[in-house]
Amino acid sequence: MSHTTHPEINAERLWQRHLDMAKIGATSGGGVHRLALTDEDIEAHLLLVKWAGVHDFSIDLDAIGNMFIRRAGSEPSLPPVASGSHTDTQPFGGRFDGITGVLAAFEALETIHEAGIETRHPLETIVWNNEEGSRFIPACMGSAVYAGVENLEDMLAREDKSGVTMGSCIDKLKNALPQAGTRELGAPIANFIETHIEQGIELETSGNTIGAVTGMQGYRRFTVEVTGEDAHSGTTPRSRRKDAFVTATDITHALRKVLWDDKDEIRYTIGCFEVLPGGISVVPGQVNFTIDLRYHDKDTLDELGDRIPEICKTHAGPCEINISEFIKQDPMNFPENMISGVEKAAARHDFKHQRIYSYAGHDARHAARLCPAGMIFIPCWKGISHNEAERAEPDDIAAAAQVIADMLIDMAV
Ligand code: GLV
Ligand code: MN
Ligand code: MN
Repeated sequence: MSHTTHPEINAERLWQRHLDMAKIGATSGGGVHRLALTDEDIEAHLLLVKWAGVHDFSIDLDAIGNMFIRRAGSEPSLPPVASGSHTDTQPFGGRFDGITGVLAAFEALETIHEAGIETRHPLETIVWNNEEGSRFIPACMGSAVYAGVENLEDMLAREDKSGVTMGSCIDKLKNALPQAGTRELGAPIANFIETHIEQGIELETSGNTIGAVTGMQGYRRFTVEVTGEDAHSGTTPRSRRKDAFVTATDITHALRKVLWDDKDEIRYTIGCFEVLPGGISVVPGQVNFTIDLRYHDKDTLDELGDRIPEICKTHAGPCEINISEFIKQDPMNFPENMISGVEKAAARHDFKHQRIYSYAGHDARHAARLCPAGMIFIPCWKGISHNEAERAEPDDIAAAAQVIADMLIDMAV
């Protein structure tokens, strides 16, 4: 399947790079634990920079730690046509969420370079910082700051569980990359296209290889602090207890009832749940937990999310409740020309394709504020993701990189 104007990507090299990247932060369970800007994540950045060095691609970093690998265009004043994703993973995450989008973008860049194709626009591979949001809250921090959705100073001050700030981690990344230039936040991008594993079962079920992503559902995330009183578990009768665990579970149960729909479309998750002080014989005086609520329709998401504080308060029992919403993102749609661009490139190579909606969140959401943006999904084994067992097939990854290479050429020449 070689095309003169659209050269064939190197599938073997692309798969080998997945194997190389999977070693950085590899877990005994076959996954990857590579939280944002840890030594492992910085090592992943450095490996990319090493590969980029072979072709003299330039490297830039911005103030929030996003990295840009650039192949120059013939008209330097034009903004870059870009693709990319993230190198960080969830705790004990998989080998494909994020890195596949980065490696597919880089493979496309290299293929175009090796074919000697001149583009008017520069081409870029972008590594967005802290997409997963599991070390530093919120998720998609790098792309959000770049697009002006989050405030830089506020994000630099965010701390991980050990009190390490995002700002100090970015300094560490910058020190590890003294050759990197500086990219201004919000500097124009002509187009952005991101590859990602689907993290669902639609493509696997339909037998299609490429999903042209039409849009992304919205989400609202809350932290809830339930404060009661530590007490002796043997001597304190129920009537005198202020048991934060009992209140917290009453709340989560009540929320489950309200957020239950016949169609099974509302996504309601308690992902973090902390019981303190954590003694077998202590009635817990404090419980902290998070709520992640997602839905594809804005009005319903607004309505359901707005009910959460009231439901928490109603089930407070003898405890105090402090609830705060720390992020809210509306559902969004990608522009038609980016969706049809994916379809066109997929059809050129006879890749079976379909339109598909994203139920996960991705950096392309924020990139879409700056330029026409889109996404490509590929099948994900049994839909398993945010899990060490996550799996994608080399042929599907290669197909995505081919679509990316085609699209970069189509948009940048
Ligand atoms: C992305 O990882 C998400 O949680 O949607
Ligand atoms: Mn991801
Ligand atoms: Mn993820």
